Amino acid sequence: MSKRWRNHPSSLARARKIAAYTFHIARQIVHYTRCTSSIDVVTATNRPREWDATTYDSLPLPHQRWGRGVLASLPLRGDERVLDVGAGTGRDTAALLQRLPRGHVVAVDGSMAMLAQLRDRLAGVGPDRLTTLHADLTAPLTLEEPVDAVFSVATLHWIPDHKSLFRSLAGVLRPGGLLRAEWGGAGNVANVEAVLVELGLPRVGEACYFATAEQTAERLTAAGFADIEVVCVPGAARMESAVQFEAFLTSVVLSAVLDSIPAGQRRQAVRDVAARLPEPQIDYVRLRASARRAA
Ligand SMILES: C[S@@+](CC[C@H](N)C(=O)[O-])C[C@H]1O[C@@H](n2cnc3c(N)ncnc32)[C@H](O)[C@@H]1O
Repeated sequence: MSKRWRNHPSSLARARKIAAYTFHIARQIVHYTRCTSSIDVVTATNRPREWDATTYDSLPLPHQRWGRGVLASLPLRGDERVLDVGAGTGRDTAALLQRLPRGHVVAVDGSMAMLAQLRDRLAGVGPDRLTTLHADLTAPLTLEEPVDAVFSVATLHWIPDHKSLFRSLAGVLRPGGLLRAEWGGAGNVANVEAVLVELGLPRVGEACYFATAEQTAERLTAAGFADIEVVCVPGAARMESAVQFEAFLTSVVLSAVLDSIPAGQRRQAVRDVAARLPEPQIDYVRLRASARRAA
């Protein structure tokens, strides 16, 4: 082929089309492999626990309000690549995609049930806009491409080692990339913890890590973040009925506690906790963090 022919506009356009198509197919294969096989991706020996995705999505969770707050704090042009850490059933992933008409979301979670619900919710979204990844966040995360922003709602307290977690998140962010997240902080769910102690049951804090704002800012700095702001915000969340409250306790607040007691005693344990709380209310304390990966 002569040099002139190789550089002919139609031949260049064809070559570009073939390259784009090959890239698209390769990405689809990666997407398909990740969606259908979690075995290669989840590396830690103690696999993340499963969640009751159907009940989770049926409840009027305070997480919806928290998610809207974190999303509103994230400046986006619309063409960025954003990581949703602990994406769950994809409520915020869907809202993120609306803010990213030319962008891409990588939704990572350790629960197959939550990811299945997320995929159902976002069934019409193609692999050019969305990657779903089943991974254990207690292990370092690896992505094919760095992201422009890390977004997370109600997840980071489930990962006990924040030093490693923030290093892992910094590792997937491009230099200058943003972190916007919220999660449970020191003093979280204190009214429930007090009742669990009275009943001689394991505390929520035994399965989660509720850090202070100061500890979080120090760990973000150590992991290579700059422009760090961390605030601690107390706020109660109420359920509308006793039935909803018990479902909320079972599938969200006490989920890890219940894993550690015999299956036959779980229902009664939830009833005992609910009965000892004066109102169907959880006293939450949330950490809200904003930071930038140092260049
Ligand atoms: C309370 S849900 C929050 C989900 C979603 N961000 C929302 O606001 O609705 C916490 C999520 O963290 C995920 N998670 C907890 N520990 C994890 C781990 N070690 N690895 C990966 N995901 C984890 C759970 O599977 C769950 O979907």
